[in-house]
Amino acid sequence: MLTDLQLTSHSADETRQLGEHLGRLARAGDVLCLEGDLGSGKTCFTQGLGRGLSITEDIHSPTFILANEHRGGRLLLYHLDVYRMSGSGEAIGIGLDDYLFGDGVCVIEWAEKIREALPAERLWITFQHLGENERSLKFQASGMRYIELLGIIARSREAFGDEATLV
Ligand SMILES: Nc1ncnc2c1ncn2[C@@H]1O[C@H](COP(=O)(O)OP(=O)(O)OP(=O)(O)O)[C@@H](O)[C@H]1O
Ligand SMILES: [Mg+2]
Repeated sequence: MLTDLQLTSHSADETRQLGEHLGRLARAGDVLCLEGDLGSGKTCFTQGLGRGLSITEDIHSPTFILANEHRGGRLLLYHLDVYRMSGSGEAIGIGLDDYLFGDGVCVIEWAEKIREALPAERLWITFQHLGENERSLKFQASGMRYIELLGIIARSREAFGDEATLV
C-alpha cells in the first residue's frame, strides 16, 4: 500500500496541473492539508485544484478571514489559510469543523499550525522550495480513502505533464 509519494514540479504551471488532477478526483468530505514555506506553491496548487473542480472564479489565499467558499464547480471548495491562527483552539473556536466535515472539499494552507485539530484521515502535502521554479511535493496519505487517491495519482503520472518526475 502506497502511503508516501514525492514529486518534483518544475514550474508553477506544473504545480497547477497536479492540483487540477487531484481536483478531478476529489470527493465531498476530502481533507487536503498543505504545509510549506511562503511562496512554496500552496495557493498555486489550490488554483489548479479549483480548475479540476470546474470552479471559474479566482482563487487566492483568504487573508483576514478563515476560509473562502467557492461555489459553482462540481463540488464546493473550502479554501482555508490558517497562517495567522494562534493554534488549533482558535481554529476550532471559529468553526473549523464546519469546513472539515462540511459538504465540500477542504484545503488548508499552513495546516501544520493546527495539526491537533485536523482529522487523522487526510492527505498531507508538504511543499519545499528547491530552486526558482522547482518545488518538491511530498504526499502522505492517512486512511483508506487517501491511500486509494495516492495510488491513482501514482498510476497516472502522464496527467502531470511530460516534465513531472517521480522520485
Ligand atoms: N514549481 C512551482 N510550483 C509552484 N509555484 C512556483 C513554482 N515555480 C515558481 N513558482 C512561483 O512561486 C510562487 C508560489 O506562490 P504561492 O502563492 O502558491 O505560495 P504559497 O505556498 O501559497 O505561499 P503563502 O504561504 O505565502 O500563501 C508563485 O509566484 C509561483 O509563480
Ligand atoms: Mg498561499
